[in-house]
Amino acid sequence: MLKARLILLLLAFFLAPRPSFSRAPYALRISCGARDDVHSSPTNTFWNKDFAYTGGIPANATPPSFISPSLNTLRYFPLSEGTENCYGINRVPHGHYVVRIYFGLVAEPSFDNEPLFDVSIEGTLIYSLPSGWSNHDDERAFVEALIFLKDGTASLCFHSTGHGDPAILAIEILQIDNRAYYFGKGYGQGTILRTDRRLSCGAKDPKFGADYSADRWGGDRFWNSLPTFGQSSDQVISTKSSIKQISQSPNFYPEALYQTALISTDTQPDLAYTMEVEPTRNYSLWLHFAEIDPSVTGAGQRVFDILLNGDIAFPDVDIVSMAGGVNTALVLNTTVVVSGRSLTITLHPTKGNHALISAIELLELVLAESKTLPDEIKALQKLKSTLGLPLRLGWNGDPCVPEQHPWSGVDCQYDRSIRKHVIDGLGLDNQGLKGFLPNDISRLRHLQSINLSGNSISGVIPSSLGTITSLEILDLSFNSFNGSIPESLGQLTSLRILDLNGNSLSGKVPAALGGRLLHGASFNFTDNSGLCGIPGLPQCGPHLSAGAKVGIALGACVAFLLIATCLTCWWKRRQNILRAQRIAARDAPYAKARTQFNREVQMGRHHSQEHARTAAENGPSLLA
Ligand SMILES: *[C@@H]1O[C@H](CO)[C@@H](O)[C@H](O)[C@H]1NC(C)=O
Ligand SMILES: *[C@@H]1O[C@H](CO)[C@@H](O)[C@H](O)[C@H]1NC(C)=O
Ligand SMILES: *[C@@H]1O[C@H](CO)[C@@H](O)[C@H](O)[C@H]1NC(C)=O
Ligand SMILES: *[C@@H]1O[C@H](CO)[C@@H](O)[C@H](O)[C@H]1NC(C)=O
Ligand SMILES: *[C@@H]1O[C@H](CO)[C@@H](O)[C@H](O)[C@H]1NC(C)=O
Repeated sequence: MLKARLILLLLAFFLAPRPSFSRAPYALRISCGARDDVHSSPTNTFWNKDFAYTGGIPANATPPSFISPSLNTLRYFPLSEGTENCYGINRVPHGHYVVRIYFGLVAEPSFDNEPLFDVSIEGTLIYSLPSGWSNHDDERAFVEALIFLKDGTASLCFHSTGHGDPAILAIEILQIDNRAYYFGKGYGQGTILRTDRRLSCGAKDPKFGADYSADRWGGDRFWNSLPTFGQSSDQVISTKSSIKQISQSPNFYPEALYQTALISTDTQPDLAYTMEVEPTRNYSLWLHFAEIDPSVTGAGQRVFDILLNGDIAFPDVDIVSMAGGVNTALVLNTTVVVSGRSLTITLHPTKGNHALISAIELLELVLAESKTLPDEIKALQKLKSTLGLPLRLGWNGDPCVPEQHPWSGVDCQYDRSIRKHVIDGLGLDNQGLKGFLPNDISRLRHLQSINLSGNSISGVIPSSLGTITSLEILDLSFNSFNGSIPESLGQLTSLRILDLNGNSLSGKVPAALGGRLLHGASFNFTDNSGLCGIPGLPQCGPHLSAGAKVGIALGACVAFLLIATCLTCWWKRRQNILRAQRIAARDAPYAKARTQFNREVQMGRHHSQEHARTAAENGPSLLA
């Protein structure tokens, strides 16, 4: 008997429906600007101390009341650090996430302005802060998106728009179910869901999921309270009965959400609610119901149509019938394309006199941007460090997206074939760059134009530039490049403009470049320390090896010695001749003989000097 019971118990244990996820979801919370980890009661939420930021300044924050306990610090990004600033979080497991970014106000008298800026997640512009956001102590003080993170990183960026310094209070990255908010066709394919609002109908206070002891796979959503739709058109009903079919995959809603509701009154059977929306955007709308009115006990007793801006979206909704009983949750979702600035939800009863609703969620469908080719991002980051890029240029996040906020000095193009953005231009002229140009620049292999004119870049021109086959314009003028022009530049058959003037270049200009000049390309090599070899520049001297130079030097020495010896000989002989002439002049009567003697001396080159002298001295006797 006992054994049978045990087996039954075991069977029940194994057969009972269990949550689809046994492991805990990944969760990262950062308290921006905090020097130490923060633990918050009563939900014991753990906030990591600040990390993973690209720059910025920590400061005290004006504490918001809707996060409890209030986080007291933030990080703000002054314009001097550039217009693009980010948090780049690594080692985020592949998955589906709720990403939430809370905004703050710097608690200093000099910061009286509410900053307005743009927020992007993974390169997609998610939100532009509306003016007046800081007057509302609710979901207007944060932005939330549901996004698949696939490359192990989460990049959250803040883009200045000229209205104050972006100031970030906190960041949450919470894993949710892979099918959370599954809406059918197109789900997860290049779309991101931005949470516009979550409203708990009939609730008194706004609450986070944690306050509702909601399942952690729900992403700790924030439910704002909506006590009434307005003008006493409705009333609140609530129950303490437990609700069935809640907190299950994929969305894990908290039970409390269904234990209060707004129900229409006798005088006003239609229940209507109007929300402000952005025109010409697509929204995913989620509506929540549970039949908690004790007067309704079965199917067919309360039936209503749901209209969106006057069009029937869900006809004949019978909560009891569709949910499978009373006190049972029913969730409906649909995609709406709105043309105007408002979305009105109307519940129009067709059976029974009242309509009822528990909660409303509105999420905007945002088309995800395609990021830049990773190899090209790496190349630009290398350039950023070797060129000592000034802080004001920023260069954080993705170079090309969001398209509204590309990096300054970087031109981008969308490459349809690889579905990525690529860099086709680099315009960093007169930016006070120093350092050197790395060989990695050739990894930007879609470049058509480079202008680095008017900086203080030194070192050699990297020969790898010759592999960027699409390059048409290369302006490196007025820098401090030295060495010679790499032969490889001659391979750039598309090159139209090459400005290397105003550098310290020397040596021979590659012959292939000289040839291009004839075909109408515009090259400028002037004002360098010594370029040669093409028309308009000096002729290059012969090119000699070190051995040849030594040979020439030796040859020159030998030649010099030879010449010196010959000169000495000639000089001595001339002295002798002069002496002989003086002797001859003394013995005038022998003038004829002297003539004879002179001829003899000139013919007798083979005689030794001694012999010649003896002959001269004995001249007269010879004649005798
Ligand atoms: C949302 O609605 C679609 C049909 O419109 C349905 O296929 C899908 O399962 C619903 N999503 C959830 C999470 O219930
Ligand atoms: C919105 O919906 C329309 C029509 O269904 C579609 O053509 C458009 O691409 C959608 N836009 C977004 C941002 O999803
Ligand atoms: C490069 O920039 C300089 C300085 O702004 C400009 O004068 C020059 O024309 C540019 N070069 C090309 C090839 O456009
Ligand atoms: C270029 O100048 C640097 C110093 O700025 C020097 O170290 C290097 O040897 C020079 N290179 C050539 C090829 O002249
Ligand atoms: C080349 O650059 C120099 C300045 O370094 C300028 O004076 C000259 O006009 C330029 N030549 C051509 C052909 O553009």
